[in-house]
Amino acid sequence: MSQQHSAAPAPNSAVSAVEGRPDWWRDAVIYQVYPRSFADGNGDGMGDLEGVRTRLPYLRDLGVDAVWLSPFYASPQADAGYDVADYRAVDPMFGTLLDADALIRDAHALGLRIIVDLVPNHSSDQYEWFKRALAEGPGSPSRDRYHFRPGKGKNGELPPNDWESIFGGPAWTRVTEPDGTPGEWYLHLFAPEQPDFNWEHPAVGDEFRSILRFWLDMGVDGFRIDVAHGMVKAEGLPDLGDHEQLTLLGNDVMPFFDQDGVHDIYREWRLVLDEYSGNRIFVAEAWTPTVERTANYVRPDELHQAFNFQYLATHWDAEELRTVVNRTLDAMRPVGAPATWVLSNHDVTRHATRFANPAGLGTQIRLAGDRGVGLRRARAATLLMLALPGSAYVYQGEELGLPDVVDLPDEVRQDPAYFRGAGQDGFRDGCRVPIPWTRTGPSYGFGDGGSWLPQPADWGGLSVEAQTGEPGSTLELYRAALAVRRERADLGAGDAVEWLRAPEGVLAFRRGEFVCVANTTGESVPMPAYGRVLLASGEITEAAGEAKVPADTTVWWSGS
Ligand code: GLC
Repeated sequence: MSQQHSAAPAPNSAVSAVEGRPDWWRDAVIYQVYPRSFADGNGDGMGDLEGVRTRLPYLRDLGVDAVWLSPFYASPQADAGYDVADYRAVDPMFGTLLDADALIRDAHALGLRIIVDLVPNHSSDQYEWFKRALAEGPGSPSRDRYHFRPGKGKNGELPPNDWESIFGGPAWTRVTEPDGTPGEWYLHLFAPEQPDFNWEHPAVGDEFRSILRFWLDMGVDGFRIDVAHGMVKAEGLPDLGDHEQLTLLGNDVMPFFDQDGVHDIYREWRLVLDEYSGNRIFVAEAWTPTVERTANYVRPDELHQAFNFQYLATHWDAEELRTVVNRTLDAMRPVGAPATWVLSNHDVTRHATRFANPAGLGTQIRLAGDRGVGLRRARAATLLMLALPGSAYVYQGEELGLPDVVDLPDEVRQDPAYFRGAGQDGFRDGCRVPIPWTRTGPSYGFGDGGSWLPQPADWGGLSVEAQTGEPGSTLELYRAALAVRRERADLGAGDAVEWLRAPEGVLAFRRGEFVCVANTTGESVPMPAYGRVLLASGEITEAAGEAKVPADTTVWWSGS
């Protein structure tokens, strides 16, 4: 097929991998960069790879191990780049393949690994294969690479089944055939501009193994797999009937999500990855009904990590947190994979806002809430997350304590979920507002040419510049926590926590010499002083062997 991508820079043997432990990923802290909103190198109002490259020293100094970049591939941007038109090209709005190469090299030189996003469930409707499928009409072999079906009803005017798009509305769109008549329908679990591949077709697997090699040859250290639970659909695409359609985290396996057949794909991918040196990894974005099902994705011959969305969806509540931590560790132990922990990403309400919302609201609902409470809980939740065994993910801007932007005017919104969202609140632009680097200046240092989503007027006070060196700032809390994590092997290592007796609403656990106490209540609680305070998300006072842990505060102790 004729791909419109430029030639790749010379394959990477020159891009030396980062030195370090082979199992670096088991306790790595991985920072998510959302390229549109991180830093704008060319002043067009949109973040880009050059912007990321110039800010790598910031990430090194923050103390993370790796950087995961959301998609920067050629794309019409119907879903902010999760609609890929060419998997081997960089979209001009983000730069060129040479910029990607420079970014990988510079990151490695700084000791940072680079993980790229891979979007295999669907392509853009502008992908060569889909354009050809439309042009060649019903019955053509090119249609078999997607899910085309005749409609139901007398004239095929009804969708082939009752599935709904995650972004709202039917999961099917009817096409106009080359002869101008209304024709077949195609499946898209997300926007109509994101047709789902038919993974039963061998060409799809061949193409993706080749795409993997392309980026592995470029020197990337791993892949985050988008909608990793979605590629295989149940035989015959059965109706859901009365079965409730679920959006992301459900109680059940759906005919389009978490089908057992996806695991065959990952076993094949693992063989490809393992041909390469450098301890590279896969991480699954798999919204499965339970952590036990998530564990299937990280069996020894499949992927390395999977995001822990059950943890992300847990409220700021000691009992709920203890349950999800135990259940996660128990689920991962038999497959030998590390647990992962995540609080925010580009799809959910930032946790500094979410934790101020009344319990029971989902991860997608955006209410302003009490910012002080939200931030206090967010800081405490971060120290709790970073004290757990396994690997943790940090979403850009959370280290600044950024809240979600809940009052974006309708005319600036870009999330397709907002426009298709009958009956759901999933508008994700609020967590995607470009981050502030400086107190003042155009777009607070994001770039010289403004910002593709407007930033709130108080963003300067939350900037990297404003928080750097400021005792007690959220940025300095993250820096200190990540520094402790780097110095002490006992934080991320292993797979066990020893729970200590604690008052209701308080979590306390020991890991070797290290003790973590998280007070999720609105009142200060007395706790034994477990040794030397390493770090705390609020003010701890100690007297006569007793410590007062304030409301919504986490403290780390060492020794005793
Ligand atoms: C994943 C991405 C999300 C995207 C969707 C479709 O859930 O994280 O941003 O809209 O997949 O690709």
